[in-house]
Amino acid sequence: MSEKMKTLTEPFKIKMVEPLKITSEAYRKEALKKAGYNTFLLKSKDVFIDLLTDSGTGAMSDTQWAGMMMGDESYAGAKSWEHLEAVVKELSGMPHILPTHQGRAAERIIYGILGGKDKVFISNTHFDTTRANIEFTGATAIDIVYDEAKNPEIDLPFKGNIHLEKLEKLITEYGRERIGAVVITVTNNSSGGQPVSMANVKALRKICDRYKLFLVIDGCRIAENAYFIKHREEGYANTSCKEIAQEMLRLGDAFVMSAKKDGMVNMGGLLTIKEEALALKCKNLLIISEGFTTYGGLSGRDMEALAIGLTEVFDEDYLHYRIKSTAYLGERLKAKGIPVVWPIGGHAVYVDAKQLYKEIPLNQYPGQSLVCDLYIKGGIRCVEVGSLMFGKYDEQGALIPAVNELVRLAIPRRVYTQSHIDYVLDIFDDILELRNKTTGYKITYEPPFLRHFTAQLEKI
Ligand code: F0G
Repeated sequence: MSEKMKTLTEPFKIKMVEPLKITSEAYRKEALKKAGYNTFLLKSKDVFIDLLTDSGTGAMSDTQWAGMMMGDESYAGAKSWEHLEAVVKELSGMPHILPTHQGRAAERIIYGILGGKDKVFISNTHFDTTRANIEFTGATAIDIVYDEAKNPEIDLPFKGNIHLEKLEKLITEYGRERIGAVVITVTNNSSGGQPVSMANVKALRKICDRYKLFLVIDGCRIAENAYFIKHREEGYANTSCKEIAQEMLRLGDAFVMSAKKDGMVNMGGLLTIKEEALALKCKNLLIISEGFTTYGGLSGRDMEALAIGLTEVFDEDYLHYRIKSTAYLGERLKAKGIPVVWPIGGHAVYVDAKQLYKEIPLNQYPGQSLVCDLYIKGGIRCVEVGSLMFGKYDEQGALIPAVNELVRLAIPRRVYTQSHIDYVLDIFDDILELRNKTTGYKITYEPPFLRHFTAQLEKI
């Protein structure tokens, strides 16, 4: 596609439609109240534009749907497995490929083996299921990004990079024997979907070689990350996004992938491993918990669709459209005066609710207030990534707030058109009018872990 093109046209046309219900503001107020002001508890039929997650929410292509019909449902050695295995071997360069039902299942297997009491894992940022699977083994998970990456306003090309100097300090502090693995998450979901540079991963590989550490690449958005490298890192302008992804994956000892993102499917995961002895241990766990090694919790048709999805995601026109359409929303929000994490990442736009809803105290959850307003005003569903998700309490029961109060607008792949996104932008005009009039929330019920999924709230 021409770089000069002014209108960002979708590089696909629509063959099947899924109707959306347009509801009234009064209806949505009632629906949200019934859901305890928690958007996870809304019914999807009551949502107009669903930006809750980009995970498993994408649309498959006609080729993928045709592949579904060709799925080989044999228990062992299915043709669809052979197809998937060949595609993933070529992509990862690793000899041992394990299918799983989603990303966290691959995490449970690999960290179940590498983890354990006294072990330490170090990452740019562990995604919450990654952290949970590591901590569940008794190990500790430490996040280290550069300080600039924590500031939503600083414009840097690779704010997802792992802090290399801090890593060496931590290795010396804990001793190399205690390090279970180093995990590099590309793109870095929990800090704004920011990319990681090839130079950073190459330097990381060198450190891992020097101290004999195991390097895991959590690459569920590896194709989106490759696009950023091609366009931002010196020396990659003429390399294809697929070749960039291949180069990066060859630097790891293992690759964990939630296929629900850049796998372009609604369900699935992968674990690939270089070393045979470790792969054998993982396969034994896979058989106990997921399924036989040639399906691991997936139907033949799922594996066929994933094999095709992993090929389609590296289409340069698709990736251009994908990254530019996320930027389209983010750049226009910024132009309206909405504070967003900058630069815009790959799969989502993160709004800085601390800045936008300045008058709401942090213990009244300004991020959740924006999440609720977006639903009431426009039927838009998104998620708070702030003190409701990560807040803790001190001994007096006062909130220890999260570092940032963000609201994530995640964009499902190939689902919404530019006019849907223009609609979201229009709703933010209403938000700007509301900004000094809206109020915060208090929690009326919360579970002990991952409270944002099931918490109940009340408007103050
Ligand atoms: N790693 C990363 C970086 C992720 O973003 C996710 C999921 C996982 C692992 C776990 O994969 O869901 O297939 O088990 N992220 C979703 C999200 C849930 O909304 O960002 P899973």
